[in-house]
Amino acid sequence: MKISTIIDGVERRVAITPETVKKYIDLGFEVVLPKNAGVSAGFPDDEYVAAGAKIEESGLVDDADFYVCVKPFLASFDFKLKSGAHLIAILSPFRNKETLKTLSDDGVNCYALELVPRITRAQSMDILSSQSNIAGYKAVLEALSFYGRVVPLMMTAAGTVRPAKVLILGAGVAGLQAIATAKRLGAVVSAFDVRTAAKEQVESLGATFVSVDANSSGETSGGYAKEMDEDYKKRQAEKLSQAISKMDIVISTAQIPGKPAPLLITEQMVKSMRVGSVIVDMATESGGNCALSKKDEVVEVDGISIIGYTDLAAHVAQDSSRLFARNVFNFVSLMIKDGNVDTSDEIVQATLLKNLSGE
Ligand code: NAI
Repeated sequence: MKISTIIDGVERRVAITPETVKKYIDLGFEVVLPKNAGVSAGFPDDEYVAAGAKIEESGLVDDADFYVCVKPFLASFDFKLKSGAHLIAILSPFRNKETLKTLSDDGVNCYALELVPRITRAQSMDILSSQSNIAGYKAVLEALSFYGRVVPLMMTAAGTVRPAKVLILGAGVAGLQAIATAKRLGAVVSAFDVRTAAKEQVESLGATFVSVDANSSGETSGGYAKEMDEDYKKRQAEKLSQAISKMDIVISTAQIPGKPAPLLITEQMVKSMRVGSVIVDMATESGGNCALSKKDEVVEVDGISIIGYTDLAAHVAQDSSRLFARNVFNFVSLMIKDGNVDTSDEIVQATLLKNLSGE
């Protein structure tokens, strides 16, 4: 069986690294990659060849049985994958309905990695977590490139520079990594989450938890955030508006799975911040946590920069590719039993896009 990837010129990350080439070969695959498949992620062709891959100089491998990709720009697919091929990637099924239907009509099996269930056995395949972790780290660094001041306390002969105050909204995977990164840089960090269980994790990283009195734990029986009542939202807005006006940097990561991102930072709150402050809204893909953020843009409002990038992990393409490629390899391993393809595992089934033709 042959495994490959597709280059689309948009995505910087790559789903196969030289490290996983060896593992695929051990699993019985022949690895054939288009020329320069990993260059934008820092993996030159000679490293793939040294690991045992073959390189297709034309840049097109159209006869593979498996294609593993990060987030392919599906609309740019200008060649047919063979019938019976397996395409494994972040496929955004709602956004890419038409192209996925065409692929499915051509007999291609499409697996959307973002649908890997968040169960213990699937943790090693959880691309959302691995990429959010890196994105949370990069969000802090991205904020600093727009912040015209230093982060840590500095006591110099010329006087003292006070440390930056950073607030993280949403203490999930991305938020916890953002807290840890801002702490390491010497910021004074506080964080807020609707789930009261997040308090302990926030405090264990040395940050202060911003509490809002609530009548519930803020989470569903599955451990995810739940939508809070109007009374809570009012108290939360009051608390946040007091806190945000004193902050230098705010990083928002709040999401409720399957719902639009909660609006936490109003226009008034943005305008209450000091000139030179920075907001990174990580949730612009699902509508945004900030009223003024724009998807994939940096906007400036009254001297405050608001960053809305949706591809922060891809800004650190080499390490995010390493983690992504391991997640994908673990997923593909589940599909190979005794050298044959077996898609019966519940994790694989949960990602398989069915009925794309609407039949
Ligand atoms: P997660 O589900 O682990 O964390 C989200 C957190 O938000 C949870 O702890 C939840 O309790 C909290 N939350 C929900 N409603 C809230 C509210 N009203 N107030 C405060 N906290 C609230 O999600 P993860 O993986 O950390 O991702 C966070 C966000 O970042 C998502 O929107 C995701 O799509 C986005 N993301 C963005 C990237 C980028 O490049 N911009 C890259 C990766 C993820």
